[in-house]
Amino acid sequence: MSIKKRKAEHIEICLNEKVDSDHNYWNDVRLVHNALPEINKNEINTRIDFLGKQLEYPIFIGAMSGGYEKGKILNDNCAKVASELKIGFCIGSQRAALENPELIESYSIVKQYDIPFVVANIGGVQLIQQDDKSPLTLDQIEKIINMIGADAVAIHLNLAHETVQPEGDQNAKGILKAITQVAQRFPVIVKEAGSGISKEVAFLLKDAGVKAIEVSGLSGTSWTAVEYYRAKAQKNKNKERLGKLFWNWGIPSPISVLECKATNLPVIGSGGIRNGLDVAKAIALGADSVSIAKSLLKNALKSSEDVKKQIEIIGEELKVAMFLTGCKNIEELQKTRYVLTRKLKSWN
Ligand SMILES: Cc1cc2nc3c(=O)[nH]c(=O)nc-3n(C[C@H](O)[C@H](O)[C@H](O)COP(=O)(O)O)c2cc1C
Repeated sequence: MSIKKRKAEHIEICLNEKVDSDHNYWNDVRLVHNALPEINKNEINTRIDFLGKQLEYPIFIGAMSGGYEKGKILNDNCAKVASELKIGFCIGSQRAALENPELIESYSIVKQYDIPFVVANIGGVQLIQQDDKSPLTLDQIEKIINMIGADAVAIHLNLAHETVQPEGDQNAKGILKAITQVAQRFPVIVKEAGSGISKEVAFLLKDAGVKAIEVSGLSGTSWTAVEYYRAKAQKNKNKERLGKLFWNWGIPSPISVLECKATNLPVIGSGGIRNGLDVAKAIALGADSVSIAKSLLKNALKSSEDVKKQIEIIGEELKVAMFLTGCKNIEELQKTRYVLTRKLKSWN
């Protein structure tokens, strides 16, 4: 099956089926209310510095697939909003454009906008040999960075997804070495895609020279769930069973933020972020920013106005959470008191 067709199937499934993990662990984080905040809500400042660039909110639009018919619309709408609201933008995997130059335009459209921080994207498994597929070269990595004028390249780790995907790549030997080589030449952010990153892996990534980590933990989109639906449609019983069994596989997003923060690298909290209160919780746990993918998908395919409205609402919710915890700025929010409740307690 072509990448283009597979990406289209992913989007349709994300739009029309239940693909979230069964539990959203952000619900188990509580911020401690401050009845005497002694600040003026209108003076709250949500600006951050991320790897030397200023964002007006600690928010990235998360990586979502390009490389198919609607990819250009999605990238255009999201890039426009990122430039207007001065937030970060992560593009979806650019592998399709390396294989089919006709698709380059669906990504390079991003270059038309002045966005404070743009992140290119490629899969970790593509950096090493996979059966008959050769590893990507550093020149190809440079090409995807230049394709969108990126400030950094995200390498996504998605082995739970690859394992359930009927046509997924199964070799993970040598990925860390390959990441090290890319990180020696370009600014690299390593991200998961729904299963989270542990402390042990985060320290290996730090040693590899990675500049930041996006956790993408368990709480939101489950890619094993997405592949469950594809396997079912293809009548692939073994993969269907695997998808169901590993539906809730991974490290809860809030725990992954805490574990990755131990490295002192900049951390992007993600996986299941739906609103401004979730954003505040991620920052309180030590994240420097968040990234939001599936919650924005429907609007991202509709219009830039709809995405903009949604993110403005999230920004306002974040400010309310900051007001009620007495935090004037993001540095203060990073130090505010939180409580881990229910299912998160057993992870601590
Ligand atoms: C439709 C869709 C497409 C995605 N495509 C990519 C991708 O190409 N590259 C990537 O690194 N992550 C991709 N992701 C994963 C997200 O960036 C994110 O890590 C994950 O979905 C968890 O965040 P969420 O719960 O906010 O969706 C995709 C997510 C969605 C919903």
